[in-house]
Amino acid sequence: MPNAYISGTGFHVPPRVVTNDDLARDYGIDTTNEWIVQRTGIQERRFAEEGVGTSDLALPAAEMAIARAGIEKTDLDMIVFATLSPDHAFPGTGVYLQRKLGLLDGANPKFVPALDVRNQCSGFLYGLATATSIVQAGGARHILLVGAETHSAALDLTTRGRAVSSLFGDGAGAVIVSATEEDRGIRAWKLGSDGRFADHLCQKVWDTTKRPFIPQDARGIGQVDPSMMWASMDGRQVFRHAVERMIGVLMETCLKLGLTGNDIDLYAFHQANLRVNQYVQHQLGIPDEKVLHNIERYGNTTAATIPLLLAEAEQDGRLRRGMKVAMVAFGSGFTWGAAIADW
Ligand SMILES: CC(C)(COP(=O)(O)OP(=O)(O)OC[C@H]1O[C@@H](n2cnc3c(N)ncnc32)[C@H](O)[C@@H]1OP(=O)(O)O)[C@@H](O)C(=O)NCCC(=O)NCCS
Repeated sequence: MPNAYISGTGFHVPPRVVTNDDLARDYGIDTTNEWIVQRTGIQERRFAEEGVGTSDLALPAAEMAIARAGIEKTDLDMIVFATLSPDHAFPGTGVYLQRKLGLLDGANPKFVPALDVRNQCSGFLYGLATATSIVQAGGARHILLVGAETHSAALDLTTRGRAVSSLFGDGAGAVIVSATEEDRGIRAWKLGSDGRFADHLCQKVWDTTKRPFIPQDARGIGQVDPSMMWASMDGRQVFRHAVERMIGVLMETCLKLGLTGNDIDLYAFHQANLRVNQYVQHQLGIPDEKVLHNIERYGNTTAATIPLLLAEAEQDGRLRRGMKVAMVAFGSGFTWGAAIADW
């Protein structure tokens, strides 16, 4: 059985920076920089321009990961695409990325499988577990795994929506999960979910219990009530469960390998809230220099946070070959996961 390792990382964020003050000034949201920074650590985020969707953000991230892995795009055997903000309700965004990558151009189109993963903030780790398992089973040698989000298209950028809209930003991260005979790679992963809390962080714009799924007026035009249109979140419940589950799943994954927290060289925690991660870090006694964060610059980019962290850290030299890296996430569902890799 081959090992599965991350052979390349890439990222892309749209150029437009939106600071906390911009949310107040440009969108008229009743908020302050102090409120957001104090509770979340977020100073700014990126918003993509109109006309740019999730597969567009994913494309440069994917191309960077392919280049850094030292492979050609035609070497890809599969695409796994994690997002909660797909280009469209269906088909999945993976097929749009396949097309934009040019895999279907020319005389020998690559009809690689494209799988979308819908596990929100844990989506990257659900995708990583899937890609790792397929590579280890011999089903693929190189899998492109992307986490990308265009949240700005679906944020209630008014005072009514401030508790959610001040947290999220747009961005994309990508990795290549490759087969190797070398003694390295993803050593263990663990995933979990608790559907009792499915309604505590959700967006119900698509509701198949309704006939039709979006109510329509007499002219047949869909009418979406704001309570359905925008995400809703019980922030305090999310905070409490995030801390508990992230600590639990990290410890379980370490135990699987007979490791302690001290054995880990670098932690890539999902970037939902700096305070959540600081709480986890302090509970486990993890020193600052072992923890990656970029939430202050990008906000919560959901499925993109962990690959974005990894790609930036590899670029600036903080993440190096031979390091033991722990990745941990928690999010809507509730869902959570952790993975440990020898880089
Ligand atoms: C969202 C979060 C920052 C809110 O902090 P909080 O201290 O729990 O704040 P509350 O939701 O209780 O709101 C307190 C007040 O601040 C207000 N408020 C919310 N967002 C605000 C904002 N951006 N600016 C100013 N005031 C805001 C609320 O309206 C509320 O006002 P009220 O008391 O008059 O009703 C916090 O709960 C959190 O970070 N939770 C985790 C969220 C998360 O990680 N989500 C992603 C998961 S993947």
